[in-house]
Amino acid sequence: GAAGCGAPGPGDEVAGELLRSSAELPEPFQVPLPVPPVAEPVRTRGGATVHEVEQRTARQEILPGLKTEVWGYDGRFPGPTFVGESGRELRLRVRNKLALPTSTHLHGGVQEPEFDGHPTDLVLPPGFPDPRKSHGHGKHSMVKPSEWTVSRGHKEYVYPLDQPAATLWYHDHRMDFSAPQVWRGLAGMFLIHDDEEAGLPLPEGSRDIPLMICDRAFEEDGSLRYPSLDPSLTKEPGVREAYMEGVMGDVVLVNGAPWPELEVSAERYRFRVLNASNARRYRLILDPGPRQGAAFVQVGSDGGLLDAPRSHEALPVSPAERFDVVVDFGAYPVGSLVRLVNTLGSGGTRDVMRFRVTRKAGRGGAPKVPGRLADLRKLRAGQAVAERQFDFRLKQVDGMRMWTVNGKPYDPGAALARPRLDTVERWRFTSDFHHPVHLHLAHFQVLARGGKSPSATDAGWKDTVDVRPYEVVDVLVRFAGYRGRYMFHCHNLEHEDMAMMADFRVV
Ligand code: C2O
Ligand code: CU
Repeated sequence: GAAGCGAPGPGDEVAGELLRSSAELPEPFQVPLPVPPVAEPVRTRGGATVHEVEQRTARQEILPGLKTEVWGYDGRFPGPTFVGESGRELRLRVRNKLALPTSTHLHGGVQEPEFDGHPTDLVLPPGFPDPRKSHGHGKHSMVKPSEWTVSRGHKEYVYPLDQPAATLWYHDHRMDFSAPQVWRGLAGMFLIHDDEEAGLPLPEGSRDIPLMICDRAFEEDGSLRYPSLDPSLTKEPGVREAYMEGVMGDVVLVNGAPWPELEVSAERYRFRVLNASNARRYRLILDPGPRQGAAFVQVGSDGGLLDAPRSHEALPVSPAERFDVVVDFGAYPVGSLVRLVNTLGSGGTRDVMRFRVTRKAGRGGAPKVPGRLADLRKLRAGQAVAERQFDFRLKQVDGMRMWTVNGKPYDPGAALARPRLDTVERWRFTSDFHHPVHLHLAHFQVLARGGKSPSATDAGWKDTVDVRPYEVVDVLVRFAGYRGRYMFHCHNLEHEDMAMMADFRVV
């Protein structure tokens, strides 16, 4: 936990202090959009595919002409994209070649607690001191030595992928340090496919593209700028004030490239939009909008495909949320330049990327999105066997201002809820600020916002929901899969590191 300075303010505008880059920044839309490579399995064992990935530092050209040190899975930012099949186990062996501990969480994945990437379940680099043998783990952590579990050098995470086709992602989840470690690059996409999805005429192959959107700031030499709480990791302790509301940079990256451009043909594309930012929210529109039809036809949410497509002119995307959308560039003449714009940004954070429509539709383009997508069971309030309320709020704790859940900073070992396996509960979230609330393991459906119907963009199975300032959000959560200790937390990563987390235990 940490004390802070900036006062959080209500309202829909983006709050928080902007870190300004001192590096020379490129003009927008000069860099082509990179697409992270799809990871190849090292072998198949029984019915399972086995992957290996190494966490290491690397120097990557993010800003043209400069090298940036990143901490990446396989030395890349974003990491490789893992592609799994529903119902087929995927084992991910993570080797830590960094100088610090890590914990890898498959966000949106349904896996046993020991493979869930809990913040206290560390993979230590060789030679790193064992936190179970120290008295306290640095001045920022309140974790008792007995709470840690530790692997040396590597860990094999087992993902059964017993869940439908979905757009997931993986990222670092180390206790107290997720925000700086993700900022340095420890994040990537993870896609699951299934037969139901394969039977739908959705754009595929080179027209199915992940868009991992996140903001960063850069020092003059190209290194990533971050107001770390660790004085050995920051050049400017003064910017630590940016910490309280969450850290935001002045450069928008898509798949690791600043304000990139993608050449498209005049036909339908599927984009897996992920907000991988530490704290920044986006409201995305197309500029200009299409001559006919909606800008975005949403086919999937965090947890998988929707029952039917939903049309949106704007996508509000809070940290960790995913929108699986189809965009029809057939609605634009060849030669059009179409910007993806963030209406919550200003200056450089208003631009996200640009599409350049360079040619007529190719052969075999996808037809109109069908009116029925997946078989999705809508939960009803009457199914809930319990109701619980969780308040996400800034509080004074022992003379320090802290981000808390129900008045308490994170206490590993203290479960705030004990839902029963294979039941549905109604959880109510309240808050004093924008808090993107995320549950591990359990997916949910939004039942109400402020006592009214949810927004059109709340549809489907979700694992993250933005709770707006002084708003009440009701969700129906289905606890399925496994028993044991899981967690829920604010996915503003600085809030998360400042203890806005809690455990629940499925019994
Ligand atoms: Cu994406 Cu607990 O996190
Ligand atoms: Cu928060």
